[in-house]
Amino acid sequence: TAKPKNTIQSIADRIKTNQITRIIVLTGAGISTSAGIPDFRTPKTGLYDRLAPLKLPSPESIFHISYFSHSPEPFYAIAQARHPTTLKPTLSHAFLALLAKKNLLHFLFTQNIDGLEEDAGVPAEKILWTHGNWKDQHCSKCKSAYPDNMMRKAIRAGDVPYCLAPKCDGAIKPDVVFFGESLPEEFDEKVKLIPEADLMIVMGTSLRVAPCSGIQRMMGPGVPRVLINMERCGDMGSQDGDVCILGDCDEGVSEFAEALGWGDELKALWEE
Ligand code: OAD
Repeated sequence: TAKPKNTIQSIADRIKTNQITRIIVLTGAGISTSAGIPDFRTPKTGLYDRLAPLKLPSPESIFHISYFSHSPEPFYAIAQARHPTTLKPTLSHAFLALLAKKNLLHFLFTQNIDGLEEDAGVPAEKILWTHGNWKDQHCSKCKSAYPDNMMRKAIRAGDVPYCLAPKCDGAIKPDVVFFGESLPEEFDEKVKLIPEADLMIVMGTSLRVAPCSGIQRMMGPGVPRVLINMERCGDMGSQDGDVCILGDCDEGVSEFAEALGWGDELKALWEE
């Protein structure tokens, strides 16, 4: 007889009975859209559809290091809209914090640079910011540090900040990973945690950018996967144990939390 298909309730039951205790999560821009940061690839609302006036070689060029090195202006023209200053974590971030609080979060790989996972209460040692975390900035040429207050001023004005070191004319670049740059060194070490997981959750990502787009395939055999996303993406939904909650991810995590009996606790943690 065929094995019964997983549902969000059957996964929740396995969490409640401690059959699932090591959850790996992969997140992307979709978990921060309700905090007011548009994602990249959603047609019309995503950043890439709004860049036409800048006449770039391709939308991704704006985050490509070779393009930035000669033309940093387009990046600074949109930087303010992506700069995490006074943002509040979403219910989806709070759900990640709740997993950590319950000692169920084995590790979180986030492609986001807004730092909202940590703001929501996920311990930093449980997070890898695969594309960096927009906290600091350095000269793209000589690598000198650049003061935060001057960076904030430049971003507010939409101006390109330039290096203060004598005889250097490098544009300042936030410490985030651009296309064409290496991922943080810890990436190779942290992916070794993935085969230890007994559940994979993928939230708010189109799974279009390598190497993160391969994380959800690095699991041991038969390990269930949950997709919480507006649309299907990558190979999610193609394996027997997969469960897809399609729609807004804040609603998706609420549904998951209800199935776990954590509905009130999630709301309380978010409102804290
Ligand atoms: P994308 O914009 O490619 O994908 C966001 C995904 O989230 C899409 O599948 C959306 O349908 C979904 N989504 C949006 N809002 C949602 C919501 N409220 N609830 C549920 N799902 C929602 O963003 P990423 O996959 O994060 O890298 O993009 C990956 C990388 O590409 C980024 O880190 C960035 C970008 O270029 C660099 O710039 C290096």
